[in-house]
Amino acid sequence: MNIKIRLEQPGDYRAVEELTREAFWGSMNYPTCDGEHLLVHKLRSLPSFVPELDFVAEADGKLVGHIIYSMAKVITPDDREVEVLNFGPISVLPEYKRKGVGSALLRHSISEAKKLGYRAIIFYGHPDYYPRLGFNRASAYGITSENGRSFDALMAMPLYDGALDDVTGRYIEDSAYNIDSKEAEEFDKGFPPKEPAVLPPIKLLTDKLTENAKRAFDTREIRYISQLQGYSGVEILSWDGIEEQDLAQINHILKEYGQPEKLFPASHILQLAKMGVRLPVVQKIRKKTGISVYRVESESEHYVLKEFENPESRREIKNYEMLASLCIPTLQILKNTECALLLPNMENSSKYRLGCEADLSDVQVAISIAKWYKELHIKGQMYIRRITLCFMMKQIRLLCQIWI
Ligand SMILES: CC(C)(COP(=O)(O)OP(=O)(O)OC[C@H]1O[C@@H](n2cnc3c(N)ncnc32)[C@H](O)[C@@H]1OP(=O)(O)O)[C@@H](O)C(=O)NCCC(=O)NCCS
Repeated sequence: MNIKIRLEQPGDYRAVEELTREAFWGSMNYPTCDGEHLLVHKLRSLPSFVPELDFVAEADGKLVGHIIYSMAKVITPDDREVEVLNFGPISVLPEYKRKGVGSALLRHSISEAKKLGYRAIIFYGHPDYYPRLGFNRASAYGITSENGRSFDALMAMPLYDGALDDVTGRYIEDSAYNIDSKEAEEFDKGFPPKEPAVLPPIKLLTDKLTENAKRAFDTREIRYISQLQGYSGVEILSWDGIEEQDLAQINHILKEYGQPEKLFPASHILQLAKMGVRLPVVQKIRKKTGISVYRVESESEHYVLKEFENPESRREIKNYEMLASLCIPTLQILKNTECALLLPNMENSSKYRLGCEADLSDVQVAISIAKWYKELHIKGQMYIRRITLCFMMKQIRLLCQIWI
């Protein structure tokens, strides 16, 4: 499908409001569109509106998606106001969902926002959808909601390196986002009559879970399956009574009902977002014994991501750190989290390449490898001696303390 992104024109206004209404109709925990079309209508005439980032998506000769941006701010603890971008609503016609329209709108608008020199984007949204575009939890930057709360649905993306380094505080969006339900109802009367959607009750899901897991849902008064879109997989896993196998079962059921699945904490999408990799395009190379390797392209740079599913295999991250501390040359670690490594892609490197069979009969290569191993052994021996000495000193100190 060919998706064309262009700026919204006044002639699109009504069609965009209709598509917003369709996109949101019964998609969350409301049987209607909960006034999202009114929000688009109002935002366009507000001073906070950013017309140069107001985009529509066209496919098959019609409008199929829309994204709108407005200015928002972060109030820092010393009362500074830092301007940031906010977006939303973003809408895709139901029959065009999951075909890349939402991602195309986001990729295009984020790249434009970056070119225009904006500092960062902060917004509330589906916490397990936007990390695939590189959005990280706002809490990672010390940014909270207006009343100081943190949840995964509040997300942020610095548009240049360090853009949010000295920005912490409370995030405040335009007051237009507080939609008045009466006003929304009135506004909706100007659109063709539409039956409220019937939302699948959460019971369809909880009936297939353990008693403990069921209680976790009851406590939070979750009524509909679609309401789960407001929570991340990581948040659900943090609830008392929910284990990893419950989340796997929840995903299985969500899939059955055509709902998006939740991300597991070690997922490569979350790891890349944590590392601040913007707009990644990811391709899996292989998965073997709990270690997945991905080719990643981001803003014309090429990387390899190694994701370690099992805690035992994560020692590789520590190994790289240890080798670096001993000044032993290795492939450079660009970034890492507790369960993933971001490395340069050797396919694009003039310095490194993968070994090949011919290396076995090449004397020069053999000499280089032997030199590296020799250095590793010498520095490794010194390291072991140092560690053993430190350990012995600690033991001696401990014994002295006991005797005295
Ligand atoms: C959310 C929305 C904009 C996404 O647009 P889209 O064109 O359907 O998304 P894309 O095709 O780019 O991406 C689809 C992928 O995102 C995932 N995804 C979509 N919505 C998701 C969500 N709420 N949570 C987690 N993942 C989600 C899909 O499962 C799919 O994953 P896959 O590629 O592994 O199959 C669109 O579904 C929509 O208009 N929804 C209703 C309105 C709405 O909720 N707007 C956003 C409010 S924050």
